[in-house]
Amino acid sequence: MDWSAWRDEFPTFRTATYLNTCSLAPLSLRVRAAHERFLDEWEALGASAWYELWIGALDALRGKVARVLGARSDEIALAPSVSVALSAVASALDYAERPRVVLSDLEFPTLSYQWAVKPAVTRVFVASEDGIRVPVDRFESAMDDRTAVVATSHVYYTSGAVQDIRSIAKVAHAHWALALIDAYQATGQLPTDVHAGDVDVLVTGGLKWLLGGTGIAFLYVRSSLAKELRPTIAGWFGNARMFDFDAKVFEFHEGARRFELGTTANAAVYAANAGLDIVLEIGVDRLRERTSELVTDVIERLSDAGYSLKTPDSPTERAGIVAIHLRDPPKVVKALTSRKFVVDYRHDRLRVSPYFYNNADDNERFVEALRTIAPPVR
Ligand SMILES: Cc1ncc(COP(=O)(O)O)c(C=O)c1O
Repeated sequence: MDWSAWRDEFPTFRTATYLNTCSLAPLSLRVRAAHERFLDEWEALGASAWYELWIGALDALRGKVARVLGARSDEIALAPSVSVALSAVASALDYAERPRVVLSDLEFPTLSYQWAVKPAVTRVFVASEDGIRVPVDRFESAMDDRTAVVATSHVYYTSGAVQDIRSIAKVAHAHWALALIDAYQATGQLPTDVHAGDVDVLVTGGLKWLLGGTGIAFLYVRSSLAKELRPTIAGWFGNARMFDFDAKVFEFHEGARRFELGTTANAAVYAANAGLDIVLEIGVDRLRERTSELVTDVIERLSDAGYSLKTPDSPTERAGIVAIHLRDPPKVVKALTSRKFVVDYRHDRLRVSPYFYNNADDNERFVEALRTIAPPVR
């Protein structure tokens, strides 16, 4: 694979050192063209584009998401954000006998907020000792027969640590609870097989490692579970007979689409299709290999320079996010931004997240600039 050729696909690299895919992937030429195609179709066809093109684009997108997750198309629903997808699933659970949801204190907040606003639910937080990872046996100790769901990340957004989703599912199922995985920081960069992992529900989205931009997220629900769950928030896209336009009759869609609500943002659907085409063309295995190499390279440079990291040492335990412990991360990000680096921070750490279009020169430039701006905390 000629990785340097991919760089031309992302014009951002002409002017900036972009190392922030874990926040938002840079814009590609293909995604820009997809947006323009959508606008052209809208202008040329108006509403008839729905039947001629856009419904097909929704199906194509569900199919591509299914491919990267090892799922079937009918197990995938589209949503405007992970928060909406989570809301639909959480609305279908019965908390009377099982009022507890187990999470770790390293989750992205929206995962936990879902249950923060449900008076019937108690959130049980499993603590991380090192701020990097949470051993699976900690989840196990927090579970009991009142647990409805264990909801946790595939990759932690502040450390890049990878969780073994199969082990999480095993722990959940031992207590007849559901395993719900927030894979936003994993899908695209980490090979995933939801069936082999025995995952019940997975949420993920388009704007990071899937290269597609804002306004689109994805929900996987295991087919046998989707049939059983009855969401208590609804919209016409979740109706199996949506084009009957019968306001009196709602019939749950057979599969995961029962969790869909209203009209999709089709510019986002087009962009997501184009982003996923790049991911599928390269292949997730190759993306994983390339990202691992770049992460190891930047970690070695940072370690040699004396920085303290909040990312696992073992390459198999980490994904494309590297967290650097610093004294004043907001100030450092500001200084780096003025030098045309795109990076960000969370809490006490600066995050960099190399992906396939980055290279060792980006890493070198970044570490050199960091040494000038913020020497390591000793
Ligand atoms: C792990 C994780 N989950 C969820 C989200 C975002 O969720 P939503 O689509 O609701 O904005 C992010 C985005 O930053 C994330 O990193």
